[in-house]
Amino acid sequence: MTIDRYAVFGHPVKHSKSPKIHKLFAEQTGQALSYEALDVPAEHFTQAVTRFFDEGGKGLNCTVPLKELAWQFADVKSRRAEQSKAVNTLALQADGKILGDNTDGIGLVADLSGHHQVTLTGARILILGAGGAARGILGPILEQNPQTLVIANRTPAKAEELALAFSGADIAGCGFGDLQGAKFDLIINATSASLNNDTPPLPDGLLADNGVCYDLAYSNQPTAFVNWGRQQHAGKSLDGLGMLVEQAALAFFIWRGVQPNTQPVLELLNAERLV
Ligand code: ATR
Repeated sequence: MTIDRYAVFGHPVKHSKSPKIHKLFAEQTGQALSYEALDVPAEHFTQAVTRFFDEGGKGLNCTVPLKELAWQFADVKSRRAEQSKAVNTLALQADGKILGDNTDGIGLVADLSGHHQVTLTGARILILGAGGAARGILGPILEQNPQTLVIANRTPAKAEELALAFSGADIAGCGFGDLQGAKFDLIINATSASLNNDTPPLPDGLLADNGVCYDLAYSNQPTAFVNWGRQQHAGKSLDGLGMLVEQAALAFFIWRGVQPNTQPVLELLNAERLV
């Protein structure tokens, strides 16, 4: 019997938790599959992904810096993928075509609502950053009907442009300096500043009482933005480990048609980073 083969492509990818998460999902649901992490720089992406599927691979996750390239590669795309112009999940279809989907945004919403009891409907939401990570979560957040959604970015024009791409909803783009005096129930960090242990220059008093901070990045130590949230007395200041597990579960479902239980996997990963 051949075992169905899956992988995550990224650069760097050495520290990816995805192989562990998918191994746990496979054990839990009794699915026979393999899942490995492969370091693929952007310039080798097309060659590597073509070879992977030619050799019988069934599905891929793509992470930084390959999500836009994966979007270009996919033969057919989900609405979520079209909206975000980025793909984190590729899946071989019965007709041989490669489907591209993006499970990041729904993974974030699932983590916030499922694990943290954070309601997005009617909430005042601020997204920091206007790059690929921000674009990837906007559609699923807007589907929850927040009261307002503001995108703030170091380069304000990029935030304004992104807001325009999702126009129709109550959404606006601005610079960090324009946030003075505003209040938000939820602030999501989608900048890459955390990777350099940095936080965007934000005014104090942005967070409503009991407001929530969420960093899309995750780390074994609290990220710079998680620490910022604590300093601002956030009701909850969370990192993106839960989103990572949820986006993986949604990819697993796309590939296998089986929904894994994320709770025990998240508990295990959380326990591991405490030691
Ligand atoms: P990603 O795919 O992770 O979103 P990206 O598309 O390169 O990566 O976007 C990075 C985002 O982080 C951008 O919004 C960037 O701001 P600019 O558009 O002004 O470049 C933001 N960013 C990166 N470093 C930052 C920092 N130190 N402070 C604030 N914002 C930062």
